[in-house]
Amino acid sequence: MRRKLYLETFGCQMNELDSELVLGQLRAQGYETVEDRDAADVILYNTCSVREHAEQKVWSRLGELRDRKKRDPGVVIGVIGCMAERDGPSLFQRHPHVDLLCGPGELDKLPGMVHNASVAATERRNAGATKRERQVALMGANARRSGTLEAAADNLELLDLSRSISPSDDLAQAYVRITRGCNKFCTYCVVPYTRGPEVHRPPQNVIDEVRRLADAGVREVTLLGQTVNHYHYRHGDGRTTSFAELLYQVHEAVPHLPRLRFVTSFPRDFTDEALAAMRDCERICRYLHVPAQSGSDRILKLMNRGYAARQYTDFIDRARAMMPDVSIASDFIVGFPTERDEDFRQTVELLRHCRFKNSFIFKYSPRPGTAAIDRFADDVPEDVKRRRNNELLAVQQEVSAENNRQMVGKSVQVLVEGESKLMAKPAYPKAPGGGVELLWERRKASQAESEQPAEPLTQLVGRTRGDRVVVFDGNLSMRGALLDVEIVDARSLTLFGRLCKAAAAPA
Ligand code: 5AD
Ligand code: SF4
Repeated sequence: MRRKLYLETFGCQMNELDSELVLGQLRAQGYETVEDRDAADVILYNTCSVREHAEQKVWSRLGELRDRKKRDPGVVIGVIGCMAERDGPSLFQRHPHVDLLCGPGELDKLPGMVHNASVAATERRNAGATKRERQVALMGANARRSGTLEAAADNLELLDLSRSISPSDDLAQAYVRITRGCNKFCTYCVVPYTRGPEVHRPPQNVIDEVRRLADAGVREVTLLGQTVNHYHYRHGDGRTTSFAELLYQVHEAVPHLPRLRFVTSFPRDFTDEALAAMRDCERICRYLHVPAQSGSDRILKLMNRGYAARQYTDFIDRARAMMPDVSIASDFIVGFPTERDEDFRQTVELLRHCRFKNSFIFKYSPRPGTAAIDRFADDVPEDVKRRRNNELLAVQQEVSAENNRQMVGKSVQVLVEGESKLMAKPAYPKAPGGGVELLWERRKASQAESEQPAEPLTQLVGRTRGDRVVVFDGNLSMRGALLDVEIVDARSLTLFGRLCKAAAAPA
């Protein structure tokens, strides 16, 4: 009988990709995935340590599993990803019912670990034994910092190379890693400790993977790296491939891929060549995610970001001068130690100047092991953090709403992701007569008009090349398609559109 696997993923796109690769490997070993945790023989959490809140969610999930393990010692419970790396075996002390830990850099060995744990667990289950099983932990990010990078790169490459692409996969979008780890050591951030040093994948491996995905029908590939634009691969003969060169090469080598994008960029590392590659390659999306984190030079310095606010805004202006239609998103941390109202005001100013499409805004969360937790007291009170968070969010919403309003009347190309979560709400907020027209009313009308509607009308969600969300009416057979949509209305987070027949300009 096929063993049942439940895997829940927290955190960033890197984790989503890792989970996909792990699932592929475990499926090849005969596991089938289930949605119901209670029905699973193996339960895995792919975890995030970036903020305490993300860790707390996993602690509570693990707490819930204590009774299950008592009732059923045959179940295997594993924690993988950043918490496994950061907490290490101390996690076993807090949660003795966890069987295995595997850090993000060791995931190529996970199938073997799960197999061994499953064999032992099944024996225990059959024997009705309750004795504590052997717990296994594999971590290595810090060892990789001291070991040779070449050896680390070879091991890490195995997981990405293991990718199996099957036609039944969701074919609209896929992630491809180009860089692992991070060398920036921003003082608040755990990533350099959990994901280890920066390692770049050979360009040919990246190109091959993108090509295989495009061959299988994938329409949009997102190249991933913690500091994706810092990519530079040193070949054996001493030549290097820069990020800009990689973009040109992928674009040229995979002409049947309609959309190529990349996240997350580090402001200081952007060369004019990389911006020119975005400008010159028509299938590279005009979208940048470049976290600013703060608008105060004093705070940026304490964060060890390596740039001043003016350098950041100059970069944004430079990008906009080269690509007037580029859409830019940012991250901010509010309430970093010692942040005063004046610092925060500068952050608000920067956000207004840069007119981001959207911003991810976080309250500072002190993380064990980082420089900031040792150097600075977490001295901004929680209510001040919350107030600044809400205020910045409100300014961003204002900016987003203005940006979105300018889209009304334009035609854009969207990649259809699937059914909208707004299903109950109307896609066209105003009916021609002025009142609000509800989707189900229109559906009834359209079904009455045609004897046999080919596919029921539903509300779909798609994304523009600039990463804007568009909601419009269509049918489920359009999932994964690239369609032209006319924008008829806008809110701060969502554009509302109508399918159009004429070809659209990219946006
Ligand atoms: N506290 C709050 N936010 C953080 N981030 C990273 N570390 C922390 C922290 N300790 C945010 C940054 C980063 C995003 C992924 O998470 O804004 O860009
Ligand atoms: Fe963390 Fe800074 Fe690296 Fe981003 S660049 S992953 S914030 S250390």
